[in-house]
Amino acid sequence: MELNAIKKRVAKILDTERYEHSLRVADFAKELAGIYNVDREKAEIAALLHDVSRFMDRPQMLKEAKKLNFNISPMEEIEPKLLHAPLSANIAKNEFGIVDEEILSAIKLHTLGRPNMTDLEKIIYLADHAESGRDYPGIDNIRELAKKNLDQAIALSTSRTIQYLEERKLPIDQRTIETNQFYNLGEKT
Ligand SMILES: [Fe+2]
Ligand SMILES: [Fe+2]
Repeated sequence: MELNAIKKRVAKILDTERYEHSLRVADFAKELAGIYNVDREKAEIAALLHDVSRFMDRPQMLKEAKKLNFNISPMEEIEPKLLHAPLSANIAKNEFGIVDEEILSAIKLHTLGRPNMTDLEKIIYLADHAESGRDYPGIDNIRELAKKNLDQAIALSTSRTIQYLEERKLPIDQRTIETNQFYNLGEKT
């Protein structure tokens, strides 16, 4: 499916706010792709589709994930919204015909990350967390660091997420901790 066709269809699926967020993620992802010599079109497609399952509410997400035989973690049972990333990858594959595994994986990992991510995965993660419409303390540092060093930016962004959740006494997914530890220890390849 061509980029314009993807955009039009995503615009129909998502509400305006979320669609505009996806466009801003695409803008930042393309900018980062240009800096790091990553395929800009792949970055744009992954960004446009990263939240495409967000039209579903929590019970729908849980139901759909069970139907698809996802391995649902205890955290995802508590917060089914975490499932939107793999569910979006699933829609990208089955409804948009995206077969590129790099794109699908970048969509799947955009919320929690993982150790040893590809550059495209890091770019989508960071573009989502630091797109121009977002505002939270320290975002400027993450945005600027993303343009200079993807690994350090992931370390900073995941540290901030953990701090945010800890302050609010919210549960933290193990995968966020693993991603954070990996990039903070500089174990990168
Ligand atoms: Fe998301
Ligand atoms: Fe997003």
